[in-house]
Amino acid sequence: MSDLAELEKQALAELNSSSDETGLRAWHSKYFGKHGAIPAAVKKVSEVPPAERRAYGQEANRIKEGLIKAYEERQQKQSETQLARELQSDALDVTLPGRPIRRGRLHVATQDMRRITAIFADMGFQVYRSREVEDDLTNFELLNMPPHHPARDMWDTFHTTTGGVLLRTHTSPGQIHVMRECCPKPIRVILPGMCFRYEAITTRSEIMFQQVEGLAVGENVSMTDLKGTITAFARRLFGNDRKVRIRSSYFPFTEPSIEVDMDCLVCAGKGCSLCKGTGWLEIMGAGMVHPVVLKNGGYDPSRFSGFAFGMGVQRISMLLYGIDDIRYFWANDLRFLNQF
Ligand code: PHE
Repeated sequence: MSDLAELEKQALAELNSSSDETGLRAWHSKYFGKHGAIPAAVKKVSEVPPAERRAYGQEANRIKEGLIKAYEERQQKQSETQLARELQSDALDVTLPGRPIRRGRLHVATQDMRRITAIFADMGFQVYRSREVEDDLTNFELLNMPPHHPARDMWDTFHTTTGGVLLRTHTSPGQIHVMRECCPKPIRVILPGMCFRYEAITTRSEIMFQQVEGLAVGENVSMTDLKGTITAFARRLFGNDRKVRIRSSYFPFTEPSIEVDMDCLVCAGKGCSLCKGTGWLEIMGAGMVHPVVLKNGGYDPSRFSGFAFGMGVQRISMLLYGIDDIRYFWANDLRFLNQF
C-alpha cells in the first residue's frame, strides 16, 4: 500500500512539473504505456496476500483514475497556454498603415472615346460594337467599292494569310452589320473601335488608330440632320462658340460626301501654326449614305435615307490637348500617358 502512495505522489509531482507537450507525452508513456508503472501496479494485485488484495485493488484503481483525470486536465491547460502564447507572438497590428496601391488610370484614348460616346449618347445614339477583322466584301465591296475600284487606294490594307480576310481599315463596314441586323427599323448608332492601315508611320498617321463612326437611317433623314448633329457634337467637345463648315468631298459609300472642318481652336479662324494659316481644322469625313449601301444593308433607298460620319479619335485628342505627334498614343511612354 505504501508503494502505491509513493507511486501516486511521484507521478503527480512529475506531471505538475512537465510544462510542454513533449514532457506530457513522455509522462504518459512512463506511467500508462505498455510497460508503464500503473499497469504494472494493477497487475501486482495477484501477488498481494488475499486478505489485503481487495483494498489494494481498490486503491490501485483509485490512483489510476485520479492520474488519468489529472493528466487530462494538465493536457487541457497546456494547450490553452500554448494557444495564448501563439496569439500573443503572432499578433497582427491592425493599426499599422497599409502599403499604398499605385492606382493606374485610363489611357487618354479611352478617356476621349468615353467623352465622345457620352456626347452622342445624349443625342440618342447607341453604341454598336463591330469586329476588327473583316472580309473584303464588307470592308470594301458592300460599301460600293468593287475590286479594282480606284478609291481603294485611300485605304492601304493589312491582309491576313486567309484570302479575303483583312484588318478593317475604317469603322464603315460596321454600317453593313448594324443595318442588316436592324432593318427595316430606324437606326441611330455610333460604332467606335480600332482600325488598321498599312501605312508609313509619321507624326500624322499610325498603322492603328481609333475611329468613331456614326450612322442614322430612317425616313426623312437629311443633310440638315447631319450638319446639326456634327455641330452639336463639336460644340459639346470643343466649346460653345465653335463654328463648323462643310466642304464637298468624295467617298464611294456616301452621296453627297462631305469633309467637316471646325474653326481653329487656337486662333478662332485668324490663322496660326495649328491650322497652318487656314483658320480651319478638319475633324471628320461624312455624307448621306449611298443608295447602294442602303440597299446592301437591306433598306429600300426610295423610302429610307441616312447619314454617316467617321472621325479619327486620336486626331480629335491631338486637337483637344495640342499633341503634335500621333505616335505618342501607342508608344507606351509614361511621361506622355501620365499627363492625362
Ligand atoms: N470611313 C471613312 C474613312 O475612314 C470616313 C467616313 C465615314 C466618311 C462615314 C463618310 C462616312 O476615311
